[in-house]
Amino acid sequence: MQNLDWKNLGFAFLPTNGHVQSDFADGKWGPLQFKQEAYIPMHVAANCLHYGQACFEGLKAFTTKGGKAVLFRPDRNADRLRASADRICMEAPSEELFIAACRMVCDRNRDFIPPYGTGASFYLRPLLIGTEPTIGIKPSATYSFIVMATPVGPYYKDGFSPVEAVVLEDFDRAAPKGTGRAKMAGNYAASLKPGLVAKKMGYPIVLFTDPRENLYVDEFGTSNFIGITADGQYKTPESSSILQSITNESLQVLATDLGLKVSRTPIRLSGLDQFTEVGACGTAAVITPVHAIQYRDRKFTFGDKAKAGQTLTRLYQGLQAIQYGETADKHGWLVNV
Ligand SMILES: Cc1ncc(COP(=O)(O)O)c(C=O)c1O
Repeated sequence: MQNLDWKNLGFAFLPTNGHVQSDFADGKWGPLQFKQEAYIPMHVAANCLHYGQACFEGLKAFTTKGGKAVLFRPDRNADRLRASADRICMEAPSEELFIAACRMVCDRNRDFIPPYGTGASFYLRPLLIGTEPTIGIKPSATYSFIVMATPVGPYYKDGFSPVEAVVLEDFDRAAPKGTGRAKMAGNYAASLKPGLVAKKMGYPIVLFTDPRENLYVDEFGTSNFIGITADGQYKTPESSSILQSITNESLQVLATDLGLKVSRTPIRLSGLDQFTEVGACGTAAVITPVHAIQYRDRKFTFGDKAKAGQTLTRLYQGLQAIQYGETADKHGWLVNV
């Protein structure tokens, strides 16, 4: 075990023993290799550098209460990477290769997987890039599939604290029939400017609206929107331009288990006042409670500024308890590594 200050790690890259890589050439994926060198040699004309054939994933491994290392739903990330790759005409690893690479990166970096009880986890970042030198624009014929990983600290060092979000109508994250559903690198480049503008205005997160009419809620910069109504409904936007969050999908199952009515439905910005709790959900933090959303000159508020609402807290704790093996994994979401 590495001697790291697990409880005080941030969300930043910390060097580990290495990453795992498989290369695609001549119509097939090569063997998985473990690489200690963090730099990858690449042709200056590689497609990913110029034309953006690059997509990725994010998932975590945890050490459970029983001392086992587990991955949370890697099959869902494999599926999503394949869907992202399809949208931008890339070859993608099979689910089997994806999971084997995730297992290998955990196995070779076992001493970097944070111990139980520290709140820290091992963040895996699968990456798929087009490597063929391309000048005329076309899909690459060669690819690299990489899984790097790094230990990350607990997202909430000072407790599960609510934030305030802003709707910026001058920016869209995605186009109506564009690539918003794909976890491709370019989408994140497009979100940098609005993210910076929001921070300057004093808001840590941006709520993007549907790119066709700018009338409906889409998602936050790096997380899905979930809202809880006073009568116990869990609502999340139905939209063709948002990423299909695996955390959201899992929370919907837990919400149903808790007796909440779950619906995926278009949510009008003007109807945000139906919610008593709002959260931003994703792998990094599970749920970030949102206590207010500034939309034009109107501020919608949800519950207590200082404390997350009861339903979101139960969902947050429920999902974490599964991830840390503190409760039965009755939906079969954990994979031993
Ligand atoms: C744009 C966007 N939406 C939503 C999510 C949440 O997805 P997940 O729960 O699979 O991490 C992420 C993070 O990956 C994201 O980048």
